Amino acid sequence: MLRRFLLRASPQLRSSLSIASPPSLHRSSSPSRSFSSSPESTGSNFVEQLEDAIADTPPPSAKIAIDRSGLCNPPEHSHEPSSDSELVKHLKSIIKFRGGPITVAEYMEEVLTNPKAGFYINRDVFGAEGDFITSPEVSQMFGEMIGVWAMCLWEQMGKPSKVNLVELGPGRGTLMADLLRGTSKFKNFTESLHVHLVECSPALQKLQYCALKCQNKNDTAGNVEEHITSTLKGAQVSWHATLEQVPTGSPTIIIAHEFYDALPVHQFQRASHGWREKMIDVAEDSRFRFVLSPQPTPSILYLMKRLKWANNEEIAKLQQVEVCPKSMDLTQTIADRIGSDGGGALIIDYGMNSTVSDSLQAIRKHKFVDILDNPGTADLSAYVDFPAIKHSAEEASENVSVHGPITQSQLLGSLGINFRVEALMEKCTDEQAESIRTGYWRLVGDGEAPFWEGPEDLVPIGMGTRYLATVIVNKKQGVPIPFQ
Ligand SMILES: C[S@@+](CC[C@H](N)C(=O)[O-])C[C@H]1O[C@@H](n2cnc3c(N)ncnc32)[C@H](O)[C@@H]1O
Repeated sequence: MLRRFLLRASPQLRSSLSIASPPSLHRSSSPSRSFSSSPESTGSNFVEQLEDAIADTPPPSAKIAIDRSGLCNPPEHSHEPSSDSELVKHLKSIIKFRGGPITVAEYMEEVLTNPKAGFYINRDVFGAEGDFITSPEVSQMFGEMIGVWAMCLWEQMGKPSKVNLVELGPGRGTLMADLLRGTSKFKNFTESLHVHLVECSPALQKLQYCALKCQNKNDTAGNVEEHITSTLKGAQVSWHATLEQVPTGSPTIIIAHEFYDALPVHQFQRASHGWREKMIDVAEDSRFRFVLSPQPTPSILYLMKRLKWANNEEIAKLQQVEVCPKSMDLTQTIADRIGSDGGGALIIDYGMNSTVSDSLQAIRKHKFVDILDNPGTADLSAYVDFPAIKHSAEEASENVSVHGPITQSQLLGSLGINFRVEALMEKCTDEQAESIRTGYWRLVGDGEAPFWEGPEDLVPIGMGTRYLATVIVNKKQGVPIPFQ
């Protein structure tokens, strides 16, 4: 495996790999965020079929309850158990006052990012003590390789002296810290950067501030918030709630790792009378339950849009479809910006290169749990629909091109992770070597690590083929490394 990747890395990348020494070789060995099952990817001239939303379709195959009476007459919740969390009470009150169920997307958005009690808002959810682990937390090599990609893109952009480096959903800030440290020898690159972190969680913003070893500097008016720099290499750092808030007008490099999978999805199911949206309601026993909307909902327009991009054969096979309007909107914003300001976006996530059918999952403390169980205490995520990203970007701007997806294993292999492994192995202890080897497997391997001799429940599961990478770049810059 190692040799295969060594052969793949291009010679021009080797020079980029003389990366600064690592602060620590050991990262958490807890299980990664992984898959409960493979969704079906299956599908026709759908738009016509949707016009009457829609006839002659097979009966629903899912296990959800269909209770239309409850849609118009939500039960009174005066008997709610007082043990309901604030978020559960909030969700139930939305359902009650709306007089009917909410969409899966509304539920997902509240559960993850409700400003008071959302899953991400008040705590650190990563690592062995948290709920799941991501690639940057597995090994420093991940952020370092993304740094190599960003630097290569910057070269292709003509080495601009001022660049916005944006990360969407930076988590603990680990990827960005490893990127900055890894590229710190390349002064022209690092000095051009203004780092922008798009993060909704105040708790995670604080962790990011620490990870980047930030300092507040007074501006001339004495406003400490005005100017924050990372002591990792002096780049100015700013935080924003949305990408729209990041200033435009300079070339931009955007990184989105495991961000798209947290964007809310709508779920649709083929019913006897056509496509219907899956909704969430409160049952008589005061628990959440799934119901099907009796009528087409407004978000069916997004389903129509998505299925225009699928072929007839694929659509014919679909019984369920997941659609993520926020992913389409975000991609359009990215494409508009890159089309006019120059630069590129790298999107890495677990997902599919086809329509996604039914992938929403909940993970708490490294275990899959019921999506409706104790919302706000488990992560919710859905497979990323890569064709939707490609089509959204291409529709938004004629100045961008989209490449990929390729697997994470191909991406990191081509960027030279094997050379980095060798360099790290040269000066490390046996224990560190084991950690590097395990981290390497988790980033680029596939399935369970064959070499593992540790406890069975800790066997590293490779993320190499389950995670995909795609780029959106300004056409003028040509095809970016390593998507040629
Ligand atoms: C799954 S975590 C990924 C973290 C990090 N990229 C990593 O790989 O370790 C998702 C991140 O996106 C942030 N996030 C989720 N939804 C967001 C939203 N709508 N706006 C801004 N940030 C969001 C979360 O707070 C978190 O930092």
